[in-house]
Amino acid sequence: MSDTWVIVGASRGIGLEFVRQLLHNGFHVIAGVRNLSKAEKLDEVKSQQAGPERCIIEQCDITDEQSIQGFADKVKEATRVNGLKVTNIVLNAGILHYPNRATEISFADFALHLHTNTIGPIICAQKLLDLNPDSPPSKVVFISSDSGSTTIFRDDEDGFGAYGASKAALNQMLRHMAAELTRKGGQWTRTRILAMHPGEVETDMANIDLGWEVHGSISAEESVRCMLKVISEKDETGSFWCWDGRVPGQMPSIEKSHESMTSKLIGRWKSREFK
Ligand SMILES: NC(=O)c1ccc[n+]([C@@H]2O[C@H](COP(=O)([O-])OP(=O)(O)OC[C@H]3O[C@@H](n4cnc5c(N)ncnc54)[C@H](OP(=O)(O)O)[C@@H]3O)[C@@H](O)[C@H]2O)c1
Repeated sequence: MSDTWVIVGASRGIGLEFVRQLLHNGFHVIAGVRNLSKAEKLDEVKSQQAGPERCIIEQCDITDEQSIQGFADKVKEATRVNGLKVTNIVLNAGILHYPNRATEISFADFALHLHTNTIGPIICAQKLLDLNPDSPPSKVVFISSDSGSTTIFRDDEDGFGAYGASKAALNQMLRHMAAELTRKGGQWTRTRILAMHPGEVETDMANIDLGWEVHGSISAEESVRCMLKVISEKDETGSFWCWDGRVPGQMPSIEKSHESMTSKLIGRWKSREFK
């Protein structure tokens, strides 16, 4: 059986880069996209690889329960027909409608952040975990954000209220998922649940006019390359990591930090309150 990664939210940005690097590294990938007719970049990445048949693309709208169930059914069928084993799942889909301040946001926009960034990824992971109880995946990775860290409060992030809340709720729920699987015992204890902060990554999501300077931006290529290494190394279920292996909130080491991470970034880090 061929080791297979499931990437949800693979049409652009970080999700698309996960698919590109995994195919390049020889894995099979099942990629979930909200809209199959708007997945041209993914089609292109697939067609550029040696062995494009290693990439299966299916529809998955993370805000729609029926769509999530349909995706899980397609994953089950694809693994059966092609002799694949889902070893890793990455829940990457997310939105950031900027600004999303607590003092201004509408009920509908707050709900959309929670449906997309919290409820959808958790329910999707739950349905994918249920597919093969005898041999569950090794790693389920949620692409979170340090905006939702429960140990640091980023009060400098004006306009990130609903986004930060949705990622904080995601982090809490995935820790419960990890604890529940551990309590179930047996083969479930072999599944590790991880949360990852991908860094400040140059994608469509980051292409917004923020009220503060962002330092230390990295490419999707660097973010995913580093995250794949961290995912392969980290084994503590329910844990939360940055793309470079740090715990969110931990000071970057000078050697590891990027050239563009100036002393200004370190100053910003020092000025934060850590609880
Ligand atoms: N970029 C950063 O600096 C940064 C920092 C911290 C965390 N993150 C997190 O990293 C993840 C990826 O972000 P990105 O920077 O790559 O953003 P992006 O370029 O805006 O891409 C977002 C991806 O999520 C998909 N998506 C959104 N809503 C969806 C839905 N309802 N169903 C299925 N797919 C959906 C999008 O699909 P469509 O093409 O259909 O819209 C797209 O593929 C997100 O969870 C984000 O919160 C990013």
